[in-house]
Amino acid sequence: MRLTTHRNLVLTGFMGCGKSAIGREVACRMGREFVDTDQLIETRTGRSIPDIFARDGEAAFRALEAEVCRELGVERGLVIATGGWTLGTPENRTTIAAGGLVICLRADAATLIERLGSAAGRPMLADQDWQARLRGLLARRLPVYLSFPLQVNTANMSVEQAADRVLALWEAFGADGTEHLPVSLPVTYGEEGYSVLIRDGLLDRAGVLLAAADRWSGVAVISDQVVAPLYASQLTTALQRAAEPPCSARAMEHPILATMPAGETHKNLETVTGLYAKLLAGGLDRGGLVLALGGGVVGDVAGFIAATYMRGVALAQLPTTLLAMVDSSVGGKTGVDLPYGKNLVGAFKQPVMVLIDPLVLKTLPEPELRAGMAEVVKAGIIGDPELFAYLERGAVTDMAWLIRRAVAVKIAVVEADPYERGRRAVLNLGHTFGHAFELLSKYRMRHGEAVAIGMAVAARLAMRLGLCRAETARRIITTLQRLELPTIVPAYPAETIWEAMTRDKKKRGSRLRFVLPHDIGRVEIHEDVPRERVLEVLEEK
Ligand SMILES: NC(=O)c1ccc[n+]([C@@H]2O[C@H](COP(=O)([O-])OP(=O)(O)OC[C@H]3O[C@@H](n4cnc5c(N)ncnc54)[C@H](O)[C@@H]3O)[C@@H](O)[C@H]2O)c1
Ligand SMILES: [Zn+2]
Repeated sequence: MRLTTHRNLVLTGFMGCGKSAIGREVACRMGREFVDTDQLIETRTGRSIPDIFARDGEAAFRALEAEVCRELGVERGLVIATGGWTLGTPENRTTIAAGGLVICLRADAATLIERLGSAAGRPMLADQDWQARLRGLLARRLPVYLSFPLQVNTANMSVEQAADRVLALWEAFGADGTEHLPVSLPVTYGEEGYSVLIRDGLLDRAGVLLAAADRWSGVAVISDQVVAPLYASQLTTALQRAAEPPCSARAMEHPILATMPAGETHKNLETVTGLYAKLLAGGLDRGGLVLALGGGVVGDVAGFIAATYMRGVALAQLPTTLLAMVDSSVGGKTGVDLPYGKNLVGAFKQPVMVLIDPLVLKTLPEPELRAGMAEVVKAGIIGDPELFAYLERGAVTDMAWLIRRAVAVKIAVVEADPYERGRRAVLNLGHTFGHAFELLSKYRMRHGEAVAIGMAVAARLAMRLGLCRAETARRIITTLQRLELPTIVPAYPAETIWEAMTRDKKKRGSRLRFVLPHDIGRVEIHEDVPRERVLEVLEEK
């Protein structure tokens, strides 16, 4: 049951990523006709593309491309390679996707430069310094390329190996309608980036997606003792499927499974040392891939390991708690706790992919789900009034939608500030207070619950300072309550809470920074809030 469909298979991607060569190989193996849109345009007009650009301009060329897309969109049974920026316009994406499955090929800038060798015959690169132009163009276009959920990174692959991956993705996703493809949210930093993929059942297809992301030498799954019995075998099976034809990624055949005890108390260097040993014993080397299968604790530990093991190996996040899906798996912060405090040792480590399968939430204990919901509310207040309004109505049914919206807020913030120099602090909404409540409860209070109370306090403080309307504060508090999250300050003296807040590692000098809501969807960082005003709000019961 290989060819379940007559849809076209469309390859897109930046120039130099191998669309034509891989497309021909794929077409040959599928017994299909191969069409290259650039060639089609040249044959039809009887002119070369550089000539069309030089005499008629880019707009004229783009018009020809649009026409070709419309025609090919109604054809069936083809393998199509598009021009480098043919699918740059939403119209062309729609017309082409109507008739087929799009797979985007990609490679890093250095590989593309090496493959192209020069800018000859490439009008988009016509410049004194074509390499700089290529890098700039790639960085600008990357969000569009990454918005295609199916990707093959061809940098370290032969044409045959890349064709294997294309055919594997076709087999895994080709029979589905476009509406069943994962949603892809691109995260870019300069000319690099990755996608966050979201779809029910994605765990079963993780193997082919990850095998297409590079040519790994081995794979290790890091998980905890609660999550591993639930999902490790499902993931391992998916990985092993990618070791078989058509994908044939042999490294996936024997994944290493390394587990740690569950819970924050094990997010420490001792756990890390134990896991290093398991990876070494399993033979993971520098070309390996670490998969973080679990909540935020596993994500932070596995991320830290990936950042440091053999001076760094690749990482993919497969978050299994709501908190990890909407918060910790995106943004590249990793780390572990020391006896002196939380997250005191760590590293930035960007993943190659984040795979979110909302179906795994069905086993997540209710209190964990609720705690994660606090971070979703946070995302709504920070940057998505529509998401907030959805939560406000109370009937939360569409988990995949909600996760997508919350992740999008996190992405927008981390893209603006990838190394946490400024704006990223808005993600700490409710956290300055929340961390103090966690600390004072000796971490018996759940993070999400502490943050919920923290957001309620932040809302009341903002109202008192005249930063937001009473109505805004009321909406925040009632929404938290409707989601069964706490909003009442625990019965510690206000002074004690203040003292715990100033002990927090995020303090700057003697002044605390407060992230305060001005409206739903807009928060600002305030460093000059008088202590007395904060104490007043903490004393309000
Ligand atoms: N790196 C970041 O940017 C960032 C951001 C926010 C939070 N964090 C960190 O995240 C951690 C908290 O993460 P968390 O709330 O996910 O906690 P967690 O990882 O401890 O998971 C909570 C519990 O749920 C279990 N579990 C996980 N998935 C499950 C599933 N699908 N079914 C059943 N049980 C499941 C876990 O085994 C654990 O017992 C903290 O250490 C925090 O510092 C990091
Ligand atoms: Zn948080």
